[in-house]
Amino acid sequence: MDEKKPSRLYFIGKKEDLIQAKRTTVTLDGRDILIIYHQRTFYAMDLQCYHAGSTLETGDIEEINYKLCIVCPKHKYKISLAEGEGLYKAKNPTEAVPTPRWYSKGIKQRVHKVTEVDEDIFVTLSTCPGWIESDYYQTEKGRAELRKAQESEDGEEDVNADADEDV
Ligand code: FES
Repeated sequence: MDEKKPSRLYFIGKKEDLIQAKRTTVTLDGRDILIIYHQRTFYAMDLQCYHAGSTLETGDIEEINYKLCIVCPKHKYKISLAEGEGLYKAKNPTEAVPTPRWYSKGIKQRVHKVTEVDEDIFVTLSTCPGWIESDYYQTEKGRAELRKAQESEDGEEDVNADADEDV
């Protein structure tokens, strides 16, 4: 992200329309954004999943470890809606009785700010400095990779599902 660019409010639409739609995708300043309305709250995040670029638009939403998360339809990675944190379940083999628990991978998906003004909804793109993994699919290189993958994967079954991991 360009840290020197001033933050700008992008008008997305009327609140009522976005509530009806529940999920809305827009491209703002060349960046693909998913806006989600869930449990009376709007969220905005990069549209393409940080893991391998699948669209998050149809992902289910689940509460995991007290956080609302979108579950990527492709390999089932969990991403918190509010922070873009990647969560995964794993057993710690050093425990006497290894028990599956949720762990954080840190911030993986860039999230953006949603503002409501007089029944209108606006998004301000994140200017959080540094690289966040979902940034990759907003670059030309990332987009080219997605196009290529889409062309070659049509009809192929995906076997790279999210499995439990060891810590
Ligand atoms: S592309 Fe989202 S989990 Fe792999």
